[in-house]
Amino acid sequence: PVLVVDYGAQYAQLIARRVREAQVYSEVVPHTESVEALLARDPQAIVLSGGPSSVYAEGAPEVDPALFDAGVPVFGICYGFQAMARALGGTVEHTGSREFGRTELSADGGVLHADLPHRHPVWMSHGDSVTKAPAGFTVTGGSDGAPVAAFEDVERRFAGVQYHPEVAHSPHGQEVLRRFLHDVAGLRPSWTIASIVDEQVARIREQVGDGRAICGLSGGVDSAVAAALVQRAIGDRLTCVFVDHGLLRAGERGQVERDFVAATGVNLVTVDAADRFLAALDGVTEPEQKRKIIGREFIRVFEQAERDLKAQGDYRFLVQGTLYPDVVESGGGTGAANIKSHHNVGGLPEDLAFELVEPLRELFKDEVRRVGLELGLPETIVHRQPFPGPGLGIRIIGAVTSARLEILRAADSIAREELTAAGLDRDIWQCPVVLLADVHSVGVQGDFRTYGHPVVLRPVSSEDAMTADWTRLPYDVLERISTRITNEVRDVNRVVLDVTSKPPGTIEWE
Ligand code: XMP
Repeated sequence: PVLVVDYGAQYAQLIARRVREAQVYSEVVPHTESVEALLARDPQAIVLSGGPSSVYAEGAPEVDPALFDAGVPVFGICYGFQAMARALGGTVEHTGSREFGRTELSADGGVLHADLPHRHPVWMSHGDSVTKAPAGFTVTGGSDGAPVAAFEDVERRFAGVQYHPEVAHSPHGQEVLRRFLHDVAGLRPSWTIASIVDEQVARIREQVGDGRAICGLSGGVDSAVAAALVQRAIGDRLTCVFVDHGLLRAGERGQVERDFVAATGVNLVTVDAADRFLAALDGVTEPEQKRKIIGREFIRVFEQAERDLKAQGDYRFLVQGTLYPDVVESGGGTGAANIKSHHNVGGLPEDLAFELVEPLRELFKDEVRRVGLELGLPETIVHRQPFPGPGLGIRIIGAVTSARLEILRAADSIAREELTAAGLDRDIWQCPVVLLADVHSVGVQGDFRTYGHPVVLRPVSSEDAMTADWTRLPYDVLERISTRITNEVRDVNRVVLDVTSKPPGTIEWE
């Protein structure tokens, strides 16, 4: 793999994605890993990420110069660029000229910037600057605030840039990264969707052997793709279990039972577990507690399914559609904080008796979608908008009851109908509808005072759910949704729009 060494930047994941877009497999590793440990992973190249620190700050992570003796190509970005300059004998200074945001780069020659416009915009975020490149390097770019903003030593296969090539605000950034990987490091673009499928199928076969697996289907894209992958690997030794936990949206169950089975012919068992989930959630309002309860109940249902299936054989494995962002955001990444416990990662009970099979654990959502298409799943499944495993349970702010679920289900289905009718499904990433069940607001409907609940529309645009922006929906669509919800849904007298990006807000409210 290409290892992206994470210096605490929020961009490390994004860099890994961009490397993969250049068709080279990439993983993120913490900067606390020693050079020996890094090299033991047999990296094809190493990318040093940006980070919040100044190279002069107390305790600022340094780059062990031994890294540069291993013959492995290295690319430094922002903080990584400065740390690299310092480790190799260049100079980094507090010049007093900081640059944040859009900056003009003057680029000249070299391999990374050859044939690009001489001046072009890049995204900067730095306080210190490299003032002298290390011996052997050619300086190929500079900006007003950073005299040395790009350098390369093609012979030793080292290069770096002060700016952030991974963000969309650096329009030539992907090209520069690609040139490093393909032209400087000499890596072949061989990480394709077909190769991911082959590799995962081989890994699943190795892990499961001649055993049997249960796959929890949620109706979402991830578990569907995970199931299809495992089915390709072990055929009918896979049984899918669809848990109707009562927190589903209108029509969801029918869609899984119909569309998914039609597409894959997989063995499917549906379990009615609404009573059990509602009982376990009774009176619970705290979001993390809800998530943990739901995660635990899912597993209890799978355990019951395993006992019921005993006659057919031993189902020791549990397939989950866990994605890379789930792992990172549940605190499973490298030094990452626990933002929320995704039901299938941080929400798992400790006494889990299954061995997990998680073939999508290294992938981002858009990659998963492409794997799904490669496996022959229909667009209706692959391009479904994400719906979280804990379902409507984390979209009712307050305790979950069946009456509240009914209200939310009705409002959600109106919003979805109108968004689909307006042809907006592919423009938005997802649009949670949230019921503020513990909030009341006064309204007037049909000459009477009402004292009902607000619902929130949360339309977002995103590439991978790690970051998101609120979607500017047309006013007429918002109006239709609002009018219909307040007319048709009992107890809702107000519709409000969430205009918060992520960060600072997460996509779901809980
Ligand atoms: P947040 O709210 O963390 O959501 O910004 C990011 C994406 O993940 C979905 N999500 C979940 N999916 N289990 C899931 O399968 C979960 O526990 C969970 N929590 C959030 C959310 O819908 C969004 O697409």
